[in-house]
Amino acid sequence: MVVLQMVLLLCAGSSLATDSCSPNVNIYAELEKLKNMDERIQKLEETLAKVLSENEALKTIVQDSQNKLKSVQKENEAKKVAFSAGLLESGTGHTGPINTPKTLVYKKVFSNIGGAYDPNTGVFTAPVKGAYYLRFYGHSHGGPNMAVSLLKNGKTQCSVFAWKPTSNGNASNGVVLTLETGDQISTQLWQNTWVFDDPASYTSFGGFLIFPL
Ligand SMILES: *[C@@H]1O[C@H](CO)[C@@H](O)[C@H](O)[C@H]1NC(C)=O
Repeated sequence: MVVLQMVLLLCAGSSLATDSCSPNVNIYAELEKLKNMDERIQKLEETLAKVLSENEALKTIVQDSQNKLKSVQKENEAKKVAFSAGLLESGTGHTGPINTPKTLVYKKVFSNIGGAYDPNTGVFTAPVKGAYYLRFYGHSHGGPNMAVSLLKNGKTQCSVFAWKPTSNGNASNGVVLTLETGDQISTQLWQNTWVFDDPASYTSFGGFLIFPL
């Protein structure tokens, strides 16, 4: 209807005799064509609006997928947690006995994937919440007792003990623990006990993430 009014206005207002106003031109046919064109433009506009809104939706989906991918990649990186260390980096010797408990600091790092074990403090800090397997092994020569515990945030979880071994002592223990991010695991030599180590790494500590929770 807008088109029709415009053409009529054009004819009425024009002082020049144009082709469009000549009686030879079938003005109704022309108007019909314009009407059709108008309808097609309207449809195109509708389609364009639809495509644009679909495009917006796709942008959101792509952004969401990228964010998810990033978080999955981050999670996967965090999943790679495993460490293993022997007590002495080199040489041969006893650790203990002393009259207070002592955190054992394992210096010979075999592996430390994820860097969660600190060879300066002997402490493993859980980088993600998950189920972890942690184990330690103690060896000692004859004489004083050998006793070592595995601690979570300073609390004993499991222990080994050898009562005054005659020649030498061996003991091992391990646990599966649910750890929160930041939980700290260490091993402690009891007071007045000792362990021994040499290049064969008899006394050791290790663990790994079984799966995140
Ligand atoms: C402890 O383990 C060491 C190394 O495997 C071994 O030589 C020693 O005989 C063991 N000690 C005992 C009391 O079984």
